[in-house]
Amino acid sequence: MAPRALLYAGLLCLAVLASGGAAAAASHSQCTDNPPDLTAGGDEAGAVVDDLAGFKAYVTGAAHSHRAVVLASDFYGFEAPLLRKIADKVGEAGYYVVVPDFFHGQPYTEGTNRTEWVLAHSPVKAAEDAKPIFAALKKEKRSFVGVGGYCWGGKFAVEVAKTNEVEAIVISHPSAVTADDMKVIKCPIEILGAQNDAVTPPALVDQLVETLHQSNQIYYAKIFPEVAHGFACRYNVTNPFAVKTAEQALGLMLGWFHKYLK
Ligand SMILES: *[C@@H]1O[C@H](CO)[C@@H](O)[C@H](O)[C@H]1NC(C)=O
Ligand SMILES: *[C@@H]1O[C@H](CO)[C@@H](O)[C@H](O)[C@H]1NC(C)=O
Repeated sequence: MAPRALLYAGLLCLAVLASGGAAAAASHSQCTDNPPDLTAGGDEAGAVVDDLAGFKAYVTGAAHSHRAVVLASDFYGFEAPLLRKIADKVGEAGYYVVVPDFFHGQPYTEGTNRTEWVLAHSPVKAAEDAKPIFAALKKEKRSFVGVGGYCWGGKFAVEVAKTNEVEAIVISHPSAVTADDMKVIKCPIEILGAQNDAVTPPALVDQLVETLHQSNQIYYAKIFPEVAHGFACRYNVTNPFAVKTAEQALGLMLGWFHKYLK
């Protein structure tokens, strides 16, 4: 594929779908591959609260920590057991962790019209709506707040990074993130991409990095070999390579937060 075609593919997930063509709606998207097994939970360290600044949220980790991490989910929302496991591990590393239900009980489910779902759940609007969450965290004296975003949540994190609400972000296999976004973010960003990601392919990650560099931003980027979009939060738990790669991504995210949330 020509680099140009790759760049367009990178926008497929949200932008093209949001434009609403029937062909685009019918096309396959890696954003909804490997849906989570919602029955696989049960050993969670945290709990669901009903009203975190107006959002339902999974809350875990160090309750009194001054350092907080907001995890922003992929299309499948805050109930995904693997995402909650990641949240617990971030919590074990010393952070107060919240995973808000940005979809208000309506995550993407198989059979849903993706075009319509994306239109109804814009990550740009969600970042605007999430302001009370960040205000509440700061009011609770959480002086250092980071966002870790996956797929949909990657775009959400980038939008939040354009404000003064957070000190660092990590985006794993993001969707709909553009080079222009990189010019206007205000905090350090880590990008974790995948070699076989058709949503944000390596060529697009390269372009993001180039723009970050030119804009004098603080950044780190890595493309993980032999994995696809979704690898960090919707991995196959019986595949040792998939598990190891997801653990490496988590380790890099924690490293970024350790460095910049202090
Ligand atoms: C999904 O919704 C869009 C916008 O309403 C519509 O144009 C499209 O035909 C729908 N796709 C399917 C497969 O139903
Ligand atoms: C998960 O990984 C195992 C071990 O590699 C493999 O046998 C299985 O087919 C994979 N499952 C899926 C859904 O890809």
